[in-house]
Amino acid sequence: MELLHYVNSLLPTDPIVLQIEESIQRAGLPSMSVPQMIGRLLTTLVRLKGCESALEIGTFVGYSGICIARGLSHTGRLTTLEERELHANLARRHFNLAGVADKIDVVIGHAADSLKRMCEEERQFDFFFIDADKTSYPEYLIWATRLAKKGAILVADNVLAKGRAADFDNHNPTPVAIRRFNECLLHHEQWQATLLPAYDGIAIAEFSG
Ligand SMILES: C[S@@+](CC[C@H](N)C(=O)[O-])C[C@H]1O[C@@H](n2cnc3c(N)ncnc32)[C@H](O)[C@@H]1O
Repeated sequence: MELLHYVNSLLPTDPIVLQIEESIQRAGLPSMSVPQMIGRLLTTLVRLKGCESALEIGTFVGYSGICIARGLSHTGRLTTLEERELHANLARRHFNLAGVADKIDVVIGHAADSLKRMCEEERQFDFFFIDADKTSYPEYLIWATRLAKKGAILVADNVLAKGRAADFDNHNPTPVAIRRFNECLLHHEQWQATLLPAYDGIAIAEFSG
């Protein structure tokens, strides 16, 4: 049995995943949600760290947001950034279905604009999940560093760019940006990071301030 197939076969059915898959299909959207095992990792990290204020860059239809919200304390909040209104509306619907809508603020707009505004407002977060346009990952790391509380956790998905990150002959914008992000994060003085080659690659880091 293929390893990934075995691992996925262990998962009990999460009813929200079925509802999300159905609405993605109905809306004719590609499947872009994190795998359930990554979703569980997000919930676990948020819960372990006792996170109160989480920021997600790249909402899509809300699955990873639901996983983050599931780990938050009862006073904790998630702000999630999404540029597409259709995605944001579907996410709000799924947040309601999952019973976490009261913990989540969806901010519609270009993430860079929202991040700049949040910096001006001196917002601070103790959890970051980066999962939007891959070419902006290096920029998102800079914003997260400005917005991070001491001890904050950062998770970034797709840091292997379907293997293209490790192909140094590939000079397309995505692998170039992802390589830059990975190098900056792993050598950063304020982030203690690891990069796991699971699924499409997942980076996890802690902010030392
Ligand atoms: C891979 S999907 C996110 C999946 C989601 N995190 C999940 O696992 O359920 C990326 C999302 O980021 C959004 N996005 C891409 N570039 C963006 C930007 N510059 N600003 C805000 N949202 C953006 C896309 O519209 C898309 O919905």
